[in-house]
Amino acid sequence: MTQVEPFDLIIFGGTGDLAMRKLLPALYRRFSAGQLPSDSRIFGVARDAQSADAYRNTVEKALMHAVPDADRDALLRFLAQLGYQTLDVQTGTGWPELASACTASVPRRRVFYLATSPKLYADICARLQQHRLNGAHSRVVVEKPIGHDLASARAINAAIGSAFSEDQTFRIDHYLGKETVQNLMVLRFGNALFEPLWNAGHIERVQITVAETIGVEGRGAYYDATGALRDMVQNHLLQLLCLVAMEPLSSLQADAVRTEKLKVLRALKPIDAGNAARLTLRGQYRAGVSAAVAVPSYLQDVGKSASTTETFVALRAEVGNWRWAGVPFYLCTGKRLAQRVSEIIVSFRPVPHSIFSDTGTPVMPNQLVLRLQPDESVKLWLMVKYPNLDDLRLRPVPLNMSFAEAFGGSPLDAYERLILDVARGDLTLFMHRDEVEAAWQWIDPIVHAWAETADTPQPYAAGTLGPDAAAGFLGRESLAAA
Ligand code: BG6
Repeated sequence: MTQVEPFDLIIFGGTGDLAMRKLLPALYRRFSAGQLPSDSRIFGVARDAQSADAYRNTVEKALMHAVPDADRDALLRFLAQLGYQTLDVQTGTGWPELASACTASVPRRRVFYLATSPKLYADICARLQQHRLNGAHSRVVVEKPIGHDLASARAINAAIGSAFSEDQTFRIDHYLGKETVQNLMVLRFGNALFEPLWNAGHIERVQITVAETIGVEGRGAYYDATGALRDMVQNHLLQLLCLVAMEPLSSLQADAVRTEKLKVLRALKPIDAGNAARLTLRGQYRAGVSAAVAVPSYLQDVGKSASTTETFVALRAEVGNWRWAGVPFYLCTGKRLAQRVSEIIVSFRPVPHSIFSDTGTPVMPNQLVLRLQPDESVKLWLMVKYPNLDDLRLRPVPLNMSFAEAFGGSPLDAYERLILDVARGDLTLFMHRDEVEAAWQWIDPIVHAWAETADTPQPYAAGTLGPDAAAGFLGRESLAAA
């Protein structure tokens, strides 16, 4: 694996949950793999008044928890690259010190990672500009949620855009950094097999599922104001839909990929007050049993007596273009479900005529199942005959490619790849502002439709498959589950 050029990474929100649980462990792993040069520097930035030593101690504990098998020597060398700056985004305290720390070294790539509330993005970008830290060597990284609707997303994008050009702006959707998600592109465009069949003529339906067993995990206030539609569908699930539905690319250049994804988002047929009751299903978890442990209800988790926030959502989307006309794309996600599984199931149409009807065994349509997590794999379900029987009997069997078995080890964490892509300046796996805004443009009317109706999310017990109506709504189950 190649080393990236030395760079300075400045993490706003450097003491926060994202920095401690995801970013710093990802950086350490790439450092110990030799991809992060030892003269790169990382600055944690936060309001807490503390010394760099105290910060390094906190990071050390976080790393020992996140990477229990960390090499002691590599860990100490990594910690030696860490600095800390106390800074108040709004009052301006600490900015001159940060500016001089950043400019003291020879000019080099500078990455500002905004691991803070999006409410601070505009102020941080304005201050970076005021202190001339937004020059051509600088890049800014922002996390979702970028806004809570189209208007707020536009405002955030405009604020970032007044300090940084689009080529300097890296909007993270960590799902795009997942190994199997990238494999989707390779599968589609690196094999001659699929493209001729990749259309409404041969594909009957697509289902994209991101099921979680966890609840709201101490993020009750954020989640209750957000819900599953904005938290998961607006970004992760729509990005997956784009990768399945986009037209073949002319190249792997960031512009080519992002332009094709944008076309898909803009082709989504609207869901609004006129059809939301038919095309959407919402749920909210009640108390139940998850992984053999009794867990409280959503309302208990967020400490409220009433809430209409959805923790489960299923949608029937349609991409209105020649390739996909009439093909339902089912999107489904929820918290406190029976199993943690993220997968994309592409169901092909049945054979036009079965010569096996006399055998009494139906010919099941083929399915391509891409499992993103856990147990990353690709399965292609084919019909075969049972061996060694007098009579001819058929059954579906998967051609099964497990990534762990084929390549050994476990895939890189999405953040490990994405941070290195930022350092390299590769925007392919990051969202363009137009994509974020097009996604909100499709999501907003659904939110409004739900707000206008007296219907509320349907209850489901934690640890189950979601509301009772979900099975009927989503229709035929996957062969994998059969
Ligand atoms: C985040 C959501 O973007 O993605 C969380 O805010 C969710 O609510 C998480 O739990 C899921 O990510 P992963 O990688 O664990 O599937």
